[in-house]
Amino acid sequence: MTADTTRTDFTCETACADQTPALNTLIDARLSRRAALRGLFVSSAAVVGGSMVSHFAMMQDAAAATAMVSPGVAGGKSTLGFTEIDKTITDNHRVAPGYTAQVLIRWGDKVEPRAEAFDPLNQSAWAQSKQFGYNNDYVGYLPLPAGSDNSEHGLLFVNHEYTNTELMFPGLTEKDAQDKVTKAQVETEMAAHGNSVVEVKKENGKWRVVQNSIYARRISFLTTEMLLSGPVAGHDRVKTKADRTGTRVLGTLNNCAGGKTPWGTVLTAEENFHQYFSGTAAGTKEAENHKMYGIEGKPAYGWGKHFDRMNVDKEPNEPNRFGWLVEVDPYDPTLMPRKRTALGRFKHEAAGCAVNPDGTVTVYSGDDERFQYLYRFVTKGKYHPEDRQANLGLLDDGTLYVARFDADGTLHWLPMIFGQGPLTPANGFNSLADVLIETRRAAKLVGATSMDRPEDVEVNPVTGAVYAMLTNNTKRTAEQTDAANPRGNNAYGHVMEMIPPAKNGKADHAADTYHWDIFLLAGDPSKPEHGAKYHPDVSKNGWLACPDNCAFDPKGRLWISTDQGSEQAKNKISDGIYAADVSGPGRALTKFFYATPKDAEMCGPEFTPDGKTLFVAVQHPGEGKDSTFDKPSTRFPDFNEAMPPRPSIVAITRNDGGEIGG
Ligand code: FEO
Ligand code: CA
Ligand code: CA
Repeated sequence: MTADTTRTDFTCETACADQTPALNTLIDARLSRRAALRGLFVSSAAVVGGSMVSHFAMMQDAAAATAMVSPGVAGGKSTLGFTEIDKTITDNHRVAPGYTAQVLIRWGDKVEPRAEAFDPLNQSAWAQSKQFGYNNDYVGYLPLPAGSDNSEHGLLFVNHEYTNTELMFPGLTEKDAQDKVTKAQVETEMAAHGNSVVEVKKENGKWRVVQNSIYARRISFLTTEMLLSGPVAGHDRVKTKADRTGTRVLGTLNNCAGGKTPWGTVLTAEENFHQYFSGTAAGTKEAENHKMYGIEGKPAYGWGKHFDRMNVDKEPNEPNRFGWLVEVDPYDPTLMPRKRTALGRFKHEAAGCAVNPDGTVTVYSGDDERFQYLYRFVTKGKYHPEDRQANLGLLDDGTLYVARFDADGTLHWLPMIFGQGPLTPANGFNSLADVLIETRRAAKLVGATSMDRPEDVEVNPVTGAVYAMLTNNTKRTAEQTDAANPRGNNAYGHVMEMIPPAKNGKADHAADTYHWDIFLLAGDPSKPEHGAKYHPDVSKNGWLACPDNCAFDPKGRLWISTDQGSEQAKNKISDGIYAADVSGPGRALTKFFYATPKDAEMCGPEFTPDGKTLFVAVQHPGEGKDSTFDKPSTRFPDFNEAMPPRPSIVAITRNDGGEIGG
């Protein structure tokens, strides 16, 4: 979902001709600098892209034989062999010819062994707490057994980001989510947030969910206790009436995207946590802090009416316990999830991980709001492939950095260390915990670059280059543009490419400076007023709007999912998945592969290690003006009058059994 103050404040607005006069100059400067980057070589990277350690080794071998990060050569051809689909919006999903898109699991389907059958007219919090949650976003595939590259048997870890009250319950509109929703319905919504872990198996080319699996598990806002760990744990600013220790939190909120660690856990990202809290905490020392994160007495949900902890006038510290990356071990249902506070508190979109040449681990994450920042965290300790238990403590100690993009193509990582620079008591920071709780304010003070809504950040497993999806920012004016965010009224977003230096033949994600470039500027290249920039051969179906999530296939090609929000109908193009080479003659030649059903955004995406299955998440099918449980705009995926639309995970395979994309 989009990342503003309410669920309805969608942001991919109509493009206008309000482009800065400096736009072409900036882009030309960026593109000409590619000559300087040409030949810049990142030989290989220990990257968490596909799966576990043995997979990384394979990828590194592949990297050694591949030409890396070479900028595009116009006029060439894409290595992606599929036939593009058109951009028409339809009730159902669609995939390129020769591929099959199979609905694997839907909202309400059984997850835990004792789950009841889904009955949409009589849904309860109890039932929901054991069934597949709402609005699936991140999908992580973790092979079974742990540590293997098995691409036909594994676990799916799925985020359930938010709920559409008007599509979950009969007789309600979206506005009723705040006004008329009952306590029982709120509890059901709380149970529909969080995560699911399901065991999946591919048999005879078709995927299925394994019932009664020992790994099957729901994590929810309503039912799952988790620990605060790292520098903020136990601090006064995270203590509440229910938790006087400041160490134990009930639930996780608005889990958008995420990432996998090298040791096979998942980092699930708490994003728009603000929209569940009513009140303003006026008169308390947290009021300004909450305002900076969007808690201003205008919640999108009615939870604060029924639960004191969701009203900051009654419990001012509660929001400080959300907005973290949460580490969950899908392989061990008994391990309590940990909110890793060392990685900062903001509207985390995702978490892209990489192992550095010196053994430290880097985690990238964006703060998805207009004019917010791009971060990385580098661990103090080193990754030990043979000591999983030791790795489970790595994310509690390290340094958080924020990005400053200079016009000369240099990316500086600015450390956010208590006591250094402006992060001192003179500015209200009395400890590292203060810096981490108020990460946004600290980042601004150290001089970070305000970005156009950083969404997913992923590391290319073949090249080691890092890609950030900047989804859009229609509030940026021409005067506010800069080299890294070169368009005013940026309605279509862009993709940032960041290239770390090589050290001992590997990408060094701990280096202080990188090079950066703009991979593409989204929008319709046939409309000059969009200011779009791709490979010149991109087709009328291949251009995209509002990049949100991304994944790399085993060949290191970039697959981008889009989220236009309520602008989908205005733009008259479907959301979905686009793929492009990142190097060679097909660089930035995006091709349209999969279309969501009407009024859905595209989340996931996730490949199996063999590249033969692509899991995607169809989120909020039927979300939109006047679309309700009783009269939805689509009934995907069941198309049965007794069923409302249902967010679903889809498994895409090639009919001949080959790799996705060829
Ligand atoms: Fe939940 Fe930034 O998308
Ligand atoms: Ca989204
Ligand atoms: Ca997102």
